Amino acid sequence: MSSELYIGLMSGTSMDAVDCVLADLSDALNVIDFINVDIPARLKKDILDLCLESGDNQIKKLGETDVALGKLFASAAISILEKNQLNAEQIQAIGSHGQTIRHQPPGQSDNPFTIQIGDPNTIAALTGITTVADFRRKDMALGGQGAPLLPAFHQRVLKSTQTDRIILNIGGMANITLLRKEDNQITGFDTGPGNILLDIWIQENLNQSFDNNGDWAASGKPNAELLEFMLNDPYFSSPPPKSTGREYFNNSWIANVLSAYAKEISPQDVQATLLELAAISIAQAIKNLIGAGDVIVCGGGVKNKQLMHCLETQLDSFNVSSSNAYGIDSDALEAFAFAWFAKQTINRESIDFTNITGSSRPVILGGIYSP
Ligand SMILES: Nc1ncnc2c1ncn2[C@@H]1O[C@H](COP(=O)(O)OP(=O)(O)O)[C@@H](O)[C@H]1O
Ligand SMILES: [Mg+2]
Repeated sequence: MSSELYIGLMSGTSMDAVDCVLADLSDALNVIDFINVDIPARLKKDILDLCLESGDNQIKKLGETDVALGKLFASAAISILEKNQLNAEQIQAIGSHGQTIRHQPPGQSDNPFTIQIGDPNTIAALTGITTVADFRRKDMALGGQGAPLLPAFHQRVLKSTQTDRIILNIGGMANITLLRKEDNQITGFDTGPGNILLDIWIQENLNQSFDNNGDWAASGKPNAELLEFMLNDPYFSSPPPKSTGREYFNNSWIANVLSAYAKEISPQDVQATLLELAAISIAQAIKNLIGAGDVIVCGGGVKNKQLMHCLETQLDSFNVSSSNAYGIDSDALEAFAFAWFAKQTINRESIDFTNITGSSRPVILGGIYSP
């Protein structure tokens, strides 16, 4: 049988790296290779600046960063081609999510919009491969949250007719997908922060970009009173559809809860409490949906041992394991999804996000950029 090769590119809220997947989507979907490409420090700083509400000369910075990221995404695609001794003609298309610099969904704004950058014209021109990008804005144009999109792919690759399943992606934000065994309805939404607050707090205190294994959090003690201030945030109790991002859960959010708490607390106890917040808010969102089943975890949060341990404790009636146990690399899953989304767009296949994002009808996502 002939193969149908696609490339998926993903750069999430965490900005830890560009994820690049080479996938065969001919029949059974398979990841052939997966690489990470570092985001140079200067580029990362420019992206973070663009995520801020205000700043100097934003339009020039936006234009320049858009193209610089497009070049970086193209270099990731070229690297995976070279590594696998393939040429551009052998690839059907690239699906590029882009880097979100602002996500202002309905419910949080009267003038909703979302922006992902990483110029797809540049990617198509430099790689010589048709590129599909801008996946979220059509959904929002139809009244949807523009997020999360992953649930549609989760259903395609992880659906079971034997057990109810939750697919939990712990990136910067955490999002869940419920796949019920008895029907094909999909529910999915962002539960709130995944790794983002842990990353921000350790960066601020220890100048490290992430809490390896969650060791620093494990050295502290969660503070019940501070946790209550955190869980009082209305995001956690608001009903789906809902989505969130760095513009909501950020260093100001941490500063606000700490000033509401207004007592002395060690930085490692804050980290332990932030980790507990991630685990509890995720677990509560899951338990509001179902009482038992499989919880399949993907995203960088899988590597945070303390977070996984805390989740397992919170979800003791569930079978919690990483997607690796189901044959899908937990780091590659999101980029894999965008390879598949690209194929759906190229083939003019619509996807039904109405129960996930709240959009008004099934839709063909994305724009197609020829080389
Ligand atoms: N060894 C590790 N220990 C703890 N946390 C980790 C580890 N490796 C990755 N992470 C966390 O995962 C995050 C990246 O996850 P990822 O799924 O790529 O998120 P995003 O989609 O937002 O880019 C990092 O920022 C970090 O918080
Ligand atoms: Mg990432």
